[in-house]
Amino acid sequence: SKTKKIAVISGDGIGPEVVAEAIKVMKRSEEMFGLSFEFEHGLFGGIAIDEKGTPLPQETLDMCQKADAVLLGAVGGPKWDNNPQATRPETGLLGIRKALNLYANIRPAFIFDCLKEASTLKPEVLEGTDLLVVRELTGGIYFGDKFRRETEQGQEAVDTCVYNVMEIERIARQAFEIARTRSKKVASVDKANVLETSRLWRETVVRVAADYPDVELEHVLVDNCAMQLLRRPSSFDVIVTENMFGDIISDEAAMLTGSIGMLSSASLGDGAFGLYEPVHGSAPDIAGKGIANPIATIMSVALMYRLTFGYHEAADCIDNAVKEVLDAGHRTADIAVDKSKAISTTAMGELILAAMKK
Ligand code: NAD
Ligand code: IPM
Ligand code: MN
Repeated sequence: SKTKKIAVISGDGIGPEVVAEAIKVMKRSEEMFGLSFEFEHGLFGGIAIDEKGTPLPQETLDMCQKADAVLLGAVGGPKWDNNPQATRPETGLLGIRKALNLYANIRPAFIFDCLKEASTLKPEVLEGTDLLVVRELTGGIYFGDKFRRETEQGQEAVDTCVYNVMEIERIARQAFEIARTRSKKVASVDKANVLETSRLWRETVVRVAADYPDVELEHVLVDNCAMQLLRRPSSFDVIVTENMFGDIISDEAAMLTGSIGMLSSASLGDGAFGLYEPVHGSAPDIAGKGIANPIATIMSVALMYRLTFGYHEAADCIDNAVKEVLDAGHRTADIAVDKSKAISTTAMGELILAAMKK
């Protein structure tokens, strides 16, 4: 059938606040473009720990596996911060990514011209910034063995970082394929001067690159990359990197867009199925205040339309509406220069709805 099943797992903190606005946008686009969605909601994260004793209940995972796409808010919060690993909200997030084999996390970071003043960086440095982080999402130090042990010096903690060739190859291919649709440049970010996993990463990326002679490849050490991102952000196109480096680099890249509240993401595997979520977290410091920026989540819907469903017209409609609202000067607090004029999460959502046109 043409109806697409959307699993909605809005999670904790500002998760439900921003997801509510994204769903309104999806419902409006149903009417406008003759699309049809069936929304199913599942418990996930801290709220699932409270109600079911686990951050990723089996029924939530089943629901996601049966869906055509997943829309996720955010998880986590101080309430669960001292829980053991099995009952931490973040464990649910890693669990769902792994269970659905979503190894490729796509995080586009670009500057809306009118938001140059919102960033803490100089507008002339941001000029022309339009990059995309391809973060490996189901391997590396996030998923290696972790444990504690007693030694003569007291307790010791171990996290292991493991990558195999297959894992590196498939993420590198995703990056080169995406680069072909953009300005054909890939920066592979690693720490090959120190880490063995990075040396295998680099060798493998070089081998995959041979299949993409039309794409220019550079290798950048992660510390240098962190610096160059602030120095010359507009010279980057596609950045491909391992799980933890990608986590850090993408929050840094968020500030190139004005706010972490602007960064959307898609998590993909081998097929069209995908999980869509803002890059930001549950923002406990502003949760419940109705002031979170919903744009990252709303633009994640546009990514869903493009990458999972091929609804290009509806995706453009969302992105254009966001641009129009920002161009008109409307701002949530995180992107407002004059904070006294900041609008609420729902007001931003309503303005975007009103700006959606065919
Ligand atoms: P965070 O991204 O939640 O917040 C960082 C800062 O950015 C805060 O000051 C917050 O108010 C602000 N911010 C974030 N999103 C915003 C938005 N949409 N609009 C306006 N301001 C926004 O990161 P954190 O504080 O390090 O983590 C808080 C919790 O979220 C932790 O439990 C962490 O594990 C979790 N987390 C979850 C995800 C996820 O679910 N994908 C991602 C990152 C962090
Ligand atoms: C993200 C988050 C998660 C990650 C945490 C909450 C486990 O920071 O999605 O970027 O590190 O992947
Ligand atoms: Mn992160």
